[in-house]
Amino acid sequence: MIDAEMLRIFTAELELCKVKPGETVAILSAATKKADYAQAFLVAVQNLGASVFHINIPALASANAAGVIGKTPLAGNRAAIEALKSADMVIDLMGMLFSAEQLEIQAAGTRILMVMEPLHVLKQMFPSTEQRRRVETGAEMLRKARELRFTSAAGTDLRYGLQQYPVMTQYGYTDTPGRWDHFPSAFLFTQGNDEDIDGTVVLMPGDILCAFKRYIQAPVKLTVKRGYVTAIEGDGIDAALLRDYIESFRDPRAYAISHIGWGMHERANWYHMISTDKLPEERVMNALSFYGNVLFSTGPNTELGGTNDTACHLDIPMRNCSLFLDNQQIVDAGRIVVPELQAAGR
Ligand SMILES: [Fe+2]
Repeated sequence: MIDAEMLRIFTAELELCKVKPGETVAILSAATKKADYAQAFLVAVQNLGASVFHINIPALASANAAGVIGKTPLAGNRAAIEALKSADMVIDLMGMLFSAEQLEIQAAGTRILMVMEPLHVLKQMFPSTEQRRRVETGAEMLRKARELRFTSAAGTDLRYGLQQYPVMTQYGYTDTPGRWDHFPSAFLFTQGNDEDIDGTVVLMPGDILCAFKRYIQAPVKLTVKRGYVTAIEGDGIDAALLRDYIESFRDPRAYAISHIGWGMHERANWYHMISTDKLPEERVMNALSFYGNVLFSTGPNTELGGTNDTACHLDIPMRNCSLFLDNQQIVDAGRIVVPELQAAGR
């Protein structure tokens, strides 16, 4: 049985991705994960007149533990990788994110759409062409900037030198050969130049530790020197958890500063996690995308072409911050202030 609403949402998503007759779409899944999505996508692609096939592979025994990224059960499965490269588009229900296999498939010109969120989030945050326009406008501004700085009344003041790394956009669909996106999402980011990120970050109650699915409860002060966190201070549980967690990787590169950007999804909810925190299928796309968050992160930079592939990755969407590109203010205390970037009514 295929859920009618699921089929309607997936068909609309594939239309945004411009799936059309003559194209071939591959669906990738691991074990029994998202089996209902795989079946619904098979039908949705067929309804649009394109060819479709489904590759189902075993799951890794330890797949998807918090912070473990870049290792997928696709590694070494040459026949499956070649089949995925032969498609115009891959719908990734497994989570290839950051892996060498994903980069190889993209390099073949295959566009990739990752779909991991539960159906109610796909519906709530369903993408729009208007969101894409705003995210791409923001990306143009970010590409030109030589410096990004973000601040907060709580004491954050962190400066990133820019231009060494590309800018990446996420607007929740993809119709461009070789481009990856995640359905649904709306944010953009880049990476500071190597050894050129300095200052202080003060995490405040309500900021989100995505890897823990947890809201910060007590202030944490991070000191950043030449692109690395050099001190984690705070009397509360969060500073202790962060110190212990990062140290557990026994990897100095775990302390590196990773991507930086801001959220632009006007229908994503900051409070999402508190209303769903006991449900294992819930993920973090509301947290990463909510409108006006400054998305600070630590750990790897391979997604943007860097060489740090540490397995310790912390995405930390922050509220009430201000963000500047060179001297132009983009976000003011959690509010996007550039008219071309503002959602209607915000
Ligand atoms: Fe991240």
